[in-house]
Amino acid sequence: MARRRAGLSQRELARRSGIPQPSISRIERGLGSPTVNTLERLLRTCEMELEPVDLPGEGDVDWGRIRARLRMTPDERIRAAAADWRRLQSRRRRARRFVRDYRTEDRPALIALMDAFGEELATMDSLRRFIRADGYGETRVQVMLAEASKVLVAETGGRIEGFGVASLHDRSGRELVEVPPGCTGRITELYVDPRRRGRSFGWAILDALEQHLRESNCDVVRIELFAANRGASRFYERAGYEVRDIDLFKVL
Ligand SMILES: CC(C)(COP(=O)(O)OP(=O)(O)OC[C@H]1O[C@@H](n2cnc3c(N)ncnc32)[C@H](O)[C@@H]1OP(=O)(O)O)[C@@H](O)C(=O)NCCC(=O)NCCS
Repeated sequence: MARRRAGLSQRELARRSGIPQPSISRIERGLGSPTVNTLERLLRTCEMELEPVDLPGEGDVDWGRIRARLRMTPDERIRAAAADWRRLQSRRRRARRFVRDYRTEDRPALIALMDAFGEELATMDSLRRFIRADGYGETRVQVMLAEASKVLVAETGGRIEGFGVASLHDRSGRELVEVPPGCTGRITELYVDPRRRGRSFGWAILDALEQHLRESNCDVVRIELFAANRGASRFYERAGYEVRDIDLFKVL
């Protein structure tokens, strides 16, 4: 992702950083784990640097804000909570206005976002089985368009900031010995450009996809995530999802 943002080819990055191109290719496909030194050299060549950040979670708690709230009278606290709620609602309404159906001319932007999504997924797969091979974005977008019941994008000022995809699964045949008939909705992709996160685009796309699934008479929605994708887990938990299945893997 850093390389793409710097507008460098693998070959150019290899030339400038002195790290062989096959190594860069392996790192990008999630097949190799670079040393900190190598990673720093690659990032510096892309004019970026490695920066330690707190993981979202416990360390993410804004104690200053909590202390400020505790100093308030109960009345002030209620007013502050109501103001937060109004701000959130207005941010969500704004984001919702940018969500629209996919159009053919969005394809190149979607492929680029899908490639970036693949790069993130490769870093989240604890078993490193996920490889983002060349042509990943293009092929995934092709499959997605063929199978989806809905593809939405969030667009601001001509830029595609994120996208989401849903599909329908009618429960039928032998399945009916263990589940009642009906329609299961799946959200197969949801991605927001990392530079645009935290502005409710994710929420707005998810909300619009859920609305589509409700209108298609689905009674449940399913989403699969890598266990290491803690950010997305929290995002979905906040949106009312709960963990039901656990997918176990062992490398043989
Ligand atoms: C998950 C993702 C789509 C969220 O998009 P986003 O536009 O940043 O999300 P929003 O701004 O709409 O956030 C909605 C809520 O989720 C919370 N949230 C979002 N990302 C979070 C994170 N990483 N950790 C904790 N909470 C998070 C926000 O705090 C927000 O809460 P609020 O509405 O109470 O303020 C985005 O992080 C992403 O593209 N991730 C990589 C792709 C991915 O993993 N997709 C899921 C697999 S299908």
